[in-house]
Amino acid sequence: MAVSPHIAQDVYKDVGQNVVFITLALNRSDQQAEREAVAELAGRLPAVLNSMRIRMPEADVKCALGFSAQAWDYLYPDAAKPRELEDFAGLADKGYTMPGTPADLFLHLRAGQQAVLYEITDQLREFFAPVASVVDETAGFRYFEGRAIIGFIDGTEAPAEFESADYAIIGDEDAEFAGGSYAFAQKWIHDMDFWKSLPVEEQERAVGRRKFSDLELDDAAKAPNAHNVAAKVELDGEEQKIVRMNVPFADLGTGESGTYFIGYARSWHVTRAMLGQMLELGDYLLQFSRIVTGQLFFIPSRPLLGRIADDDL
Ligand code: HEM
Repeated sequence: MAVSPHIAQDVYKDVGQNVVFITLALNRSDQQAEREAVAELAGRLPAVLNSMRIRMPEADVKCALGFSAQAWDYLYPDAAKPRELEDFAGLADKGYTMPGTPADLFLHLRAGQQAVLYEITDQLREFFAPVASVVDETAGFRYFEGRAIIGFIDGTEAPAEFESADYAIIGDEDAEFAGGSYAFAQKWIHDMDFWKSLPVEEQERAVGRRKFSDLELDDAAKAPNAHNVAAKVELDGEEQKIVRMNVPFADLGTGESGTYFIGYARSWHVTRAMLGQMLELGDYLLQFSRIVTGQLFFIPSRPLLGRIADDDL
């Protein structure tokens, strides 16, 4: 089943150097006004991005704008809905929890320069500020050598760039929403003091890979709940993949640092299966982490964003 990467938003490549994740809650006081403001936002977004690409080509701007199920139901009650779009109400198993936290709109922006992110968000703010408030804004960054904040290279077993569109973008299986993607965003705070107190050999058992070389450990050398055991999912005998673009974040003031997980998938049930198995096996990462947000967003194709802008759903 074919996918069309050229009509997708930036969901299938480039983690970026500087990153900002923004979740917004609609005011829910005037549906018509909010729908119009969202149409304006969707309509202005391509020009804001194009303009920045002309002004700062070296910044390599990437962006995805998405809608939660709650937002979709509220804004477009009469429109068809992406097949797998549902509210993420949270998951719990074996004493571990992944909360579902409310949010309507989602923005995932990446650029080489922080100033570019500021400029874009400041321009977009004009359109969403009258009808929505910021639920969470997390500034992430590419850490040395693409490492997660826990010091391991992140993304090795994720699809390589040439194949990633196939794993991230909805195809003919849901024709009206082809070119879209299911983004799952989840903010994790790690107990970094605990993690840093572990010997490197134990950290390697926890992740299932060598820390410096990134080579995978033999299965027997991994902890039974190593992250790359718990997150590796097979469905119908086939290994499943999603496009992961996690980045670290850190806040000296609160002392909170962690990983902002973002996974783009052609099928939400693949990401959902990974989360379920991580809970079931008690993923080592869960032992020293607190998960504070989580929601699923549908990222429309660019033509569909155009229809949202024209109020033509
Ligand atoms: C938020 C904290 C997380 C951190 C710091 C983290 C970090 C890592 C690292 C370092 C690897 C090994 C290298 C690689 O293959 O990319 C990895 C693998 C992987 N992670 Fe995560 N991850 C996190 C959360 C998640 C979540 C929430 C999911 C799923 C929804 C996930 C799915 C995967 C998958 C599928 C693999 C590849 C496993 C394999 O086939 O070897 N990760 N992650």
